[in-house]
Amino acid sequence: MSKVKVQVTREVFDEVLDYLGEHFEVSSNQDDRPFTPTELAQVLADKQGALTVLTDRIDEALIAHCPQLKAVCNIAVGYNNFDLKTMSARGVLGTNTPGVLDAATADFTWALILATARRLTEAEAWLRAGEWKGWKLKQFLGMDVQGATLGIVGMGRIGQAVAKRARGFDMPVLYYNRTRLAPALERECHARPASLDELLSQSDIVTLHTPYSADSHHLIGAAQLAQMKKTAILIHAARGGVVDDAALITALSSGTIAAAGLDVFENEPKFNPEFLKLRNVVLAPHIASATTNTRRNMAMLAARNLVAALAGERPPNLLNPDALK
Ligand code: GLV
Repeated sequence: MSKVKVQVTREVFDEVLDYLGEHFEVSSNQDDRPFTPTELAQVLADKQGALTVLTDRIDEALIAHCPQLKAVCNIAVGYNNFDLKTMSARGVLGTNTPGVLDAATADFTWALILATARRLTEAEAWLRAGEWKGWKLKQFLGMDVQGATLGIVGMGRIGQAVAKRARGFDMPVLYYNRTRLAPALERECHARPASLDELLSQSDIVTLHTPYSADSHHLIGAAQLAQMKKTAILIHAARGGVVDDAALITALSSGTIAAAGLDVFENEPKFNPEFLKLRNVVLAPHIASATTNTRRNMAMLAARNLVAALAGERPPNLLNPDALK
């Protein structure tokens, strides 16, 4: 009997291909050139399953072109690249990789917090440019992180991991979330619930950890930035589109807020070039979960989801149980 065919859309670790190869006939893309939407539809046309990344759009047009597709397993916790409604209607299972990237993403959020508050990348660029002529009392003065109020927007697993790390810095923590955490979890995170207005106006550091959806589109725009303290910093390692980048650029250049640390942008990788002109911003290329172990665990989890889904089992990280109906 011929094996079930699956496509891996981008380069993955060899062990992931080996594992998938035990179950499927695997087509891979180890030279890692992203497929265009048309190419993606073409390579998936005769496949039952796919291991995808966040830039692969699984939408109505693609699904219409791929009648055999049964499961698409994203190597990401975010899944705004999936049209889940259409996938469910066509019986295509979608999965993501929650949990395995919480620690790495929270650690990187702290890297952004510290780098932004202490102007690390700005100072390094200056040093590399040969500008360092001597020590000065007032050189690259930043803001204290210890004792600052941290406001966490989106208190899922990653937001909670960020909150737990704030204990070492003796920070009061406010959080804004659709649903309130259980009291025990609030205590564990040392975090107090707040409205978005309260959080924005009281926090010294605002960090975003909410998924992107129509509801969270431009959750932080000009009006919200204007509510923040002039001395505050904004940290964003969630998903491009949660922040109105043009409004953020205006706020950073006009002194509405002090600085920002950003790992995600609208329209990646062609982000707004005005960011490059700003001194008070730390920029990273969407790498918050990028440790070797974490990316390996994410890819293996996606592969396990694919194996389960195509074996007719309920995959562990199923996003659309409706598709099973
Ligand atoms: C990365 O951005 C992810 O969603 O896992």
